[in-house]
Amino acid sequence: MAHRIAVIGGDGIGPEVTSEALKVVAAAGVALDLTDFELGGKRFLRDGEILGDATLNQLRTFDAILLGAVGTPEVAPGVIERGLLLKMRFELDLYVNQRPFTGTAPGGTVPHDFVVIRENTEGPYVGEGGVLRKGTPFEVATQGSVNTRMGAERIIRHAFGEAMKRRKHLTMVHKTNVLTFAGDLWQRTFNEVATEFPEVETAYNHVDAACIYFVQDPHRYDVIVTDNLFGDILTDLGGAVSGGVGLASSANLNPARTGPSMFEPVHGSAPDIVGTGKADPRAAILSAALMLDFLGESATADRIRAACTQAVSGSTTEIGFQIAARVAG
Ligand code: IPM
Ligand code: MN
Repeated sequence: MAHRIAVIGGDGIGPEVTSEALKVVAAAGVALDLTDFELGGKRFLRDGEILGDATLNQLRTFDAILLGAVGTPEVAPGVIERGLLLKMRFELDLYVNQRPFTGTAPGGTVPHDFVVIRENTEGPYVGEGGVLRKGTPFEVATQGSVNTRMGAERIIRHAFGEAMKRRKHLTMVHKTNVLTFAGDLWQRTFNEVATEFPEVETAYNHVDAACIYFVQDPHRYDVIVTDNLFGDILTDLGGAVSGGVGLASSANLNPARTGPSMFEPVHGSAPDIVGTGKADPRAAILSAALMLDFLGESATADRIRAACTQAVSGSTTEIGFQIAARVAG
């Protein structure tokens, strides 16, 4: 039976790269039953919908969601990001944001291979806080970071499980020397869960030091687990040291499979290059491969990944055709 996929192309280059990803999956011979959802900044400007309950409930019925990119300069920052992307992550309980990096650092020769597992439902992303006396010289803004034992424990346990499937090495990244409350909760939880996985070797890095290692010694990493905001920042850096953000893919997972998981490139909607053919579709194509992994089609996903490692050239659609030709038949 064909997998039922909700497709949210979104804004900017989102629809362009998403259609290349779908072209490649079709060429690889996996049948997808696609339903398009027109959501994002453009839709919001037209009729005010960002992600209403009816649409959200419809999305819940799919096997997976494939997303391009959302956000447009005509809408204030945060409106679409919070109302659509973060709402899906929170409401669908996509608590794992898994971002693999297999690339060669600028100037490097040996490719590295590590994965960042970012907590995706807590931290400073929850929207806790507020503002007082706005616009006055006495303005006060707070933005709290929410960390629960349950939230830290489930992402850490997932990360240990992923490490068991790989080289059995897990690094926790945090800032325990400054964020002593959240950091202590994470560290104690990490140490406790580690006892369930005696075969996994563990390490800890402060996030600032991790930035240095990402650039100078990425080979030290296998699996990294970190909080929502550190994971956001580190995965852009991960992209930059792995061939560019044009190759960075991600899976927003609900491992319990109580609803659909969501797959999206790490890059944004890049409104400056819309329609120019300059968008690299490989991040979207590799995100579709992660979707295929989750749908039990790993052999096809591996073929798509292999096709993406060979050289490509030309416009968005030309790159799509080159990769599609490699995976066809
Ligand atoms: C990402 C993006 C999002 C995030 C934005 C668009 C809300 O940067 O997926 O990394 O911060 O999580
Ligand atoms: Mn980001």
